Amino acid sequence: MARHDPHSYTDLAQGRIRHIAFQLEADFAQRQLRGTARYLLDQPARGPFDLDTRDLDVRSVSSSGRAVRFTFGKEDPILGSRLRLSDLAGADEFTITFVASQAARALQWLSPAQTAGGRHPYLFTQCQPHHARTIFPCQDSPSVRFTYEAELRVPAPLVAAMAAAPMGSWSADGATAFHFDMPQPIPSYLFALAVGEITSRDLGPRSRVYAEPDLIEAAAWEFAQIEDMLAEAEKLYGPYPWERYDMLVLPPSFPYGGMENARLTFLTPTMIVGDRSLTNLLAHELAHSWTGNLVTNATWEDFWLNEGWTTYAERRILGAIEGEDSAMLRAATGRNTMRRAIQHFGWDADPTRLKFSQAGIDPESVVSYVAYEKGYSFLVRLERIVGRRAFDAFTRKYIAEHRFQTITTEAFIDILRRDLPQIFGQVDVQNWLYAPGFPADAPPFESPLIDEVSNRLFDYQEGRLPRREDVAGWKTAQTYLFLQYLPRVIPVDDCRALESAFALDRTRVPQFLSQFFEIAIRSGYRQALPRAEDLITTVGRMFIIVPVFQAMAQTEWSRPLARPLLEKVRPRHHPITVLAMEQMLTQLGL
Ligand code: BES
Ligand code: ZN
Repeated sequence: MARHDPHSYTDLAQGRIRHIAFQLEADFAQRQLRGTARYLLDQPARGPFDLDTRDLDVRSVSSSGRAVRFTFGKEDPILGSRLRLSDLAGADEFTITFVASQAARALQWLSPAQTAGGRHPYLFTQCQPHHARTIFPCQDSPSVRFTYEAELRVPAPLVAAMAAAPMGSWSADGATAFHFDMPQPIPSYLFALAVGEITSRDLGPRSRVYAEPDLIEAAAWEFAQIEDMLAEAEKLYGPYPWERYDMLVLPPSFPYGGMENARLTFLTPTMIVGDRSLTNLLAHELAHSWTGNLVTNATWEDFWLNEGWTTYAERRILGAIEGEDSAMLRAATGRNTMRRAIQHFGWDADPTRLKFSQAGIDPESVVSYVAYEKGYSFLVRLERIVGRRAFDAFTRKYIAEHRFQTITTEAFIDILRRDLPQIFGQVDVQNWLYAPGFPADAPPFESPLIDEVSNRLFDYQEGRLPRREDVAGWKTAQTYLFLQYLPRVIPVDDCRALESAFALDRTRVPQFLSQFFEIAIRSGYRQALPRAEDLITTVGRMFIIVPVFQAMAQTEWSRPLARPLLEKVRPRHHPITVLAMEQMLTQLGL
């Protein structure tokens, strides 16, 4: 028994899955995803072979036509149940038949009313961090990579998309079978599929966007810069390693901004605002193609290696496209988001460390902007010591040496010792990576775009409110920074004045609304409540709605409305969004 990952029953000494051939069927009437999968291992299984499962019904296991004995371990509230195959007797392949239940946390089944078009139902997956095991038995640890092929049967006229190469489809008896091939090895958390009324539009030689027909035009316009971003990223980190970079716009209940599923990034529709001002999200998910998908965190304890590096690469890509001033502006908003996260956890709390032991901890419950922004700040700190040229050369070597492999924080420190030894005299690496809070030697971010916001914030403190003409020309990230820095409780009259100065009654930027409604509720600006409730009802992105919902639940006058609102949105939102809202109410004793 040699478990290396606190969030998986995977025992690497038993061997690794190297390829899976899936036959899947999406049954919308019963809301069941049924499947048969044939697994190939990298070596014959001499003893037991352990897989992760959760809320998963396993019907049969066989190997070369012979039934294989299987047993489930005790259900763990975080890991689920270990599925042990006990008599593989030297076989290096087996086949499992399974059914993913309605409780599967990786799945959301939507009724037609929950889609943009309103005509057809929809199904999508979200496997990161540890939910792939609710769809199919697997070694659900980022340290195991496999290639796969899949047939996905869906009822006509629905279309299936997977984070893989589409290999054609054929229809018979009211169903369509879509075929996919994933030739590059992925960890289980990048497994992804979606089924619905989906159409597509080519954006460039190796990119296309998929969306519901009602959104496809707007999506194609919003994401038109993707080939430029790809070109900049390749200049920095080498040839794009996954052949194609396609994007899928999901229905509004998608719980994240974006998810970097290899070859097919999943995106929230709320980033389509009509002015390309939120495409940093696209740069972020694209950057994961190198940092995360190619060089992968070994366990969720090393999550900062995925997200810190990706935040760094995201801002380098944006710096190349929009200019360094703009990249620094976004760095400033990021730092502020992180400060709030640290305040929320407490300055000496474990989740404010870049790495800490997560045994017994749900990895999803400690995901925060600390990994992103403290990780980013650490990397910028190193970059500023050695200079950009040397740091870029270091990064390219790091990526080239670890492509299609995994990396731990400790292995990364060894790489720093070998390739950037000069930093150790100047930075306390141990402190940055393992200590709580935020180091005093954090690199400052400077930009005239930030100064302009600081000046207006200073004015506000002095009692001078911004006027419409002062801020009408601001970049989206400037307004966002201003709103972020405002105190959470301000006079109701100021709420009204700011609402009109920033045109918050008609903005399409959900980040603005998230900040503003949080302040409005805490400040007692009651007129904002119906629109705040509307945001929480129509948007599923947790990062946008949870702070507003939390403000509702924590503020005296709105508190009684929180539980009824959760009950109202429960059937609409994704299981993990509902869980996050539920946990918040439980914490507050509501
Ligand atoms: N991989 C993450 C999303 C994620 C993290 C899903 C942890 C499940 C667990 C993705 O790349 C991401 O970071 N998305 C951000 C956007 C970004 C610009 C910071 C998001 O969704 O807000
Ligand atoms: Zn990310």
